[in-house]
Amino acid sequence: MYELKDEYLTGIESIDSEHKVLFGIADEIYELCKNEFVPDKYDDIAALIQRLKDYTHMHFEHEEAYMESIQYKRMFTQKVQHDNFRQKLESIDLDVVDDDQEKAIEDLLKFVTDWLVEHIMQTDKLIGK
Ligand SMILES: [Fe+2]
Ligand SMILES: [Fe+2]
Repeated sequence: MYELKDEYLTGIESIDSEHKVLFGIADEIYELCKNEFVPDKYDDIAALIQRLKDYTHMHFEHEEAYMESIQYKRMFTQKVQHDNFRQKLESIDLDVVDDDQEKAIEDLLKFVTDWLVEHIMQTDKLIGK
């Protein structure tokens, strides 16, 4: 369902490989969510969502360090967008998600991956130019 497409590539290998991992984790969550044969999967899904959050934080740190190292001139825009998204991730509370967990998780994944695609295409791709 979710994967890094060629059109998302920035041309900076370290950044691209981390983006790939992010989509990979999102996909793992999606697949687990859809798997009807796994009972009681919500603890695992919650743990994976935590991994997605942690990995996103780490990726932003790496990306920002890289931009600093090349004295990237559009760094401020990047940081504002990252900070914004960091706050959104922090506000996710899975305990609140209850009535329809599967739908809630799908909505969450869609929100996260839509943001990633938009940010990569409009902002991260400029780093390599
Ligand atoms: Fe990125
Ligand atoms: Fe970024």
